[in-house]
Amino acid sequence: MQLIDGKSLANKIYESVGKSVEILKQEMNIVPGLAVILIGDDPASHAYVKMKAKACEKVGFYSITHHMPDSISQDEIIGTIAMMNDNPRIDGILVQLPLPAHIDTDKIIEVIDPKKDVDGFHPYNVGRLVIGLDGFVACTPLGVMRMLEAYDISIQGKNVCIVGASNIVGKPMASLLLNANATVTIAHIHTKDLKAHTLAADIVIVGVGVPSLIKEDMIKQGVIVIDIGINRIANGSLVGDVDFQAVSKKCSYITPVPGGVGPMTIATLLENTLKSAKKRET
Ligand code: GUN
Repeated sequence: MQLIDGKSLANKIYESVGKSVEILKQEMNIVPGLAVILIGDDPASHAYVKMKAKACEKVGFYSITHHMPDSISQDEIIGTIAMMNDNPRIDGILVQLPLPAHIDTDKIIEVIDPKKDVDGFHPYNVGRLVIGLDGFVACTPLGVMRMLEAYDISIQGKNVCIVGASNIVGKPMASLLLNANATVTIAHIHTKDLKAHTLAADIVIVGVGVPSLIKEDMIKQGVIVIDIGINRIANGSLVGDVDFQAVSKKCSYITPVPGGVGPMTIATLLENTLKSAKKRET
């Protein structure tokens, strides 16, 4: 069994993004800028946003976090995004999800200029991904692809089971893998026999937020397991969606939690923001 070390891979991406930022500054006088909108007081969202801001600082980006109260109106959020769309110093706009119940998340995402949609959530970018055109791809699935590439794990012809069908993870993950010629199954909450699907897979990718959902008897020997889940359990520690101790014994490769997919999500956000800055119209 080999661990897929997301942390060290993410650090390599930080280094390479940092070097590109230097060049961009010197040659074009451009400092990539990321704007983050954070609404409410969810501790997990606050923690993620803090990590994103810290990562921006590390690679020399300009970044701002716009913190708004839970009571904010949808129109005020839309107004803020419109300002960011027009701000030439901002290359990427990220609205941290989930949003409060009174806000229409789909509407908010659609207001973001697709050229600044570094989260890859705008229908324009989702559509481009589905048909295999260049655009912004959601950070977590893109990070998973980077991990598979870095460890020379081939995808073509592989049976991949994705557990979780969210717009943020499962669906874009499926598109990326299909574009890379995998045979893709997406299992979700209504799937009748999850085990039948995971057992048939060469690669299992799970991101549902259920600790220890994937157990030893649900996977075949030699499988590759990518664990996107991040769950804080009663004793305060972080665990994924996979019963790591038992499952890892049967794996050829597996990602740990923490230190697996999590750091890659932030690294690919930086990559996406850099990509946007390079296309800045100056
Ligand atoms: N909430 C959980 N994951 C993400 C993400 O990748 N982007 C944003 N904006 N919100 C999230």
